[in-house]
Amino acid sequence: MKILLIGSGGREHALAWRLLASSGVERVWCAPGNGGMAQLKGAECVAVPQGGMKDVAALAELGERLGPDLTLVGPELPLVSGIADEFAGRGLRLVGPSRQAAQIEGSKVFAKEFLLRNRIPTGPLYGIYDAAGDAYSALCAVDWPCVIKADGLAAGKGVLVAANPDDATAFIDRLMVDREFGSAGDRVLLEEALTGSELSYIVLTDGETVLPLAATRDHKRVFDGNRGPNTGGMGAYSADGLLDRELEARILDSLIRPTLDAMAREGHPYRGFLYAGLMLTSAGPQVLEFNCRMGDPETQAIVVRMDFPLSEALDAATEGRLREITARWKPGASACVVIAAENYPGEPRTGMKIEGLAAASSVPDAVVFHAGTKLEAGEVLVSGGRVLGVTGTGANLGAAVARAYEAAGKIRFEGAHYRRDIGAVTQTAASGASHTAGSRI
Ligand code: AMP
Ligand code: GLY
Repeated sequence: MKILLIGSGGREHALAWRLLASSGVERVWCAPGNGGMAQLKGAECVAVPQGGMKDVAALAELGERLGPDLTLVGPELPLVSGIADEFAGRGLRLVGPSRQAAQIEGSKVFAKEFLLRNRIPTGPLYGIYDAAGDAYSALCAVDWPCVIKADGLAAGKGVLVAANPDDATAFIDRLMVDREFGSAGDRVLLEEALTGSELSYIVLTDGETVLPLAATRDHKRVFDGNRGPNTGGMGAYSADGLLDRELEARILDSLIRPTLDAMAREGHPYRGFLYAGLMLTSAGPQVLEFNCRMGDPETQAIVVRMDFPLSEALDAATEGRLREITARWKPGASACVVIAAENYPGEPRTGMKIEGLAAASSVPDAVVFHAGTKLEAGEVLVSGGRVLGVTGTGANLGAAVARAYEAAGKIRFEGAHYRRDIGAVTQTAASGASHTAGSRI
């Protein structure tokens, strides 16, 4: 099988690594790939057309030229821009939702209205505003903390759980007045803050069958103890027991299936990976957000535990025969520690040489996935905000975390920073409370 994989992050390196471990996969074209994918045996990095990830017609031409058996899309931007429709129009097989269905991530207003309309549990909405003045006025009538979200795509940085009116006003200014995320901030929504433990629950679906992936938890804030601004994700873990059977059944029955049924009923059937960002509250699981793709860095923690051929599952998903696939997971746990560049999640400093990669990769049960790196004259250089995802596995979470940190400790570049508490503190509680990872949810 020959696969075209679109994207350049840690998630895509992890997917390419897993795909190439399947016996039936002969080649993975990575468009554009990164410094890690460039070194993978069986992978080949190909440039993306000038229009980048938004230019889905040009990406489809690239698909036509390469002739893969199937295409897998890592990031949200091409999906929200309609890459699935473009490939389908040319008779090319692709795993991912249509442009309409991808609105579930592309517009938080669409997602919230969809959830409320279909009575799928989610936090109560205060309102949706398309003028900063209206959003400021609405702050008089909310409880604190209050959640402010930009409608459009903002790389995980368009949400603030604001503790007070000053912070909320400043964030609304950044979105709607300074337009830090461009048209993504044309509309904002204000919603009630939920309290509980967060969980990333990702499924693959062909529109009928749902194949759940191992549940994960990510760490979105930049600093230890869940402090500092939100990032795309500073680490993630997966462990046996993170999600018990009963709760998983409840998530599938009350959130995932109703979502897929309603999407189909409303005329945009959903196919591909669906990522539900959940809050496990005392009143049951509730949806915080949907993503129309796999998570990053959740994918890194998931692929190292996969014990079934991913390529076969993807193939089956494109042919509507996912029911034939059984997902099996290696027992134990995994943890991914993201090493970020100086100033991330602000504009990152780039260009520095990365050292210690070989030593890190030689740590048993550890694998180093690249994200913002590039290979230049045989050297690996920092080229983005999230640079590496050092991922460990083990018989339990403590062992997996220890492996990941042992390997991360061998890597050096100027300005590198990473959280020291991956797996130890969960993302959560608007109140700032934290939960230990071992506690049952
Ligand atoms: P989202 O992109 O919507 O998942 O939001 C990013 C992060 O903001 C989530 O992972 C949560 O940590 C937090 N968040 C979003 N919505 C809420 C909410 N209603 N209550 C509490 N925290 C939230
Ligand atoms: N780790 C969060 C995301 O992929 O959106």
